[in-house]
Amino acid sequence: MIEALKKLEQEAQAEITQAADPATLESAKVKFLGRKGLFTSLSARISEVPPDQKRLAGQEMNRVKTALETLFSEREKVLKASPGSRTKRLDPTMPGTFYPPGSLHPLSKVILEISDIFTGLGFAVVDGPEIETEYYNFEALNVPLDHPARDSFDTFYLENGKLLRSQTSTVQIRVMEKTKPPLKIIAPGKVYRPDATDATHSFMFHQIEGLMVDTGVSFADLKGVLFEFAKRFFGSDAKIRFRPHFFPFTEPSAEIDVYSKTKGWLEILGAGMVHPNVLKSVKIDPERFTGFAFGMGVERMAMLKYGVEDIRQFFENDLRFLRQF
Ligand code: PHE
Repeated sequence: MIEALKKLEQEAQAEITQAADPATLESAKVKFLGRKGLFTSLSARISEVPPDQKRLAGQEMNRVKTALETLFSEREKVLKASPGSRTKRLDPTMPGTFYPPGSLHPLSKVILEISDIFTGLGFAVVDGPEIETEYYNFEALNVPLDHPARDSFDTFYLENGKLLRSQTSTVQIRVMEKTKPPLKIIAPGKVYRPDATDATHSFMFHQIEGLMVDTGVSFADLKGVLFEFAKRFFGSDAKIRFRPHFFPFTEPSAEIDVYSKTKGWLEILGAGMVHPNVLKSVKIDPERFTGFAFGMGVERMAMLKYGVEDIRQFFENDLRFLRQF
């Protein structure tokens, strides 16, 4: 018994000095002094010791136990205090990890630039949800269930009967429900349409909606704001033209083209005077208030400004493309 205790003490001493971190030391402690540890099971065998040797064996047991406990707690203190107890030492001479500085995505840049221009003209920038109800995407915008114009804005339906908005015009309704005129807002964001993807179409793209409602707002105000915008965004020699068009939520409606020297006239946005039915749906009196609204495609603006030929390049995360902006 005494021999066995001595042997155990030596083994434990060796493991304690070799333990290089607190976790290893802790598992050694469990191995030797734990409730099912080696020391415990050895001391249970005191009953097998002949009566005349029991006293000595008992003394030895106590001595070894106290000795090991002291060794463990001293080693614990040493390991906790020294930085070497961390598995990795900090080497201040190692070169750091290089994180190349990022930059804004071209679409974010264009959204910020356009937002800047409109805030300069007194518009506030607001946000709206991408998951919408049929009411905000269609009905409140004067597009009843059976209206043929619904086809061109048709969208992705979710299982709960909601849908992914196909136009940021939904935000017109959300803003007018909460804010009474006078109001001037723009609303940038993502929209979704089940279009087949090609160089000019994507099932997801970005729009910026604009809305101004007040007493005496006229088509001339719409023209003035959009012309000023085109000059600031495309340059002072930019030309724009209005073509008659149809939108269910504006009357009269127009599509606006911008002139580019290389490509001629290109459509950039839809606009018009807010339809009286839309004002009625948000309980604004169309006899007292008038307004204009417009919606532009952000990708289209970015493609024109930077000469990008294929809309898909914006979404492929190809750094060779993105680094140019
Ligand atoms: N929502 C229309 C579209 O997505 C654009 C638009 C907005 C037209 C506001 C008129 C007024 O095509």
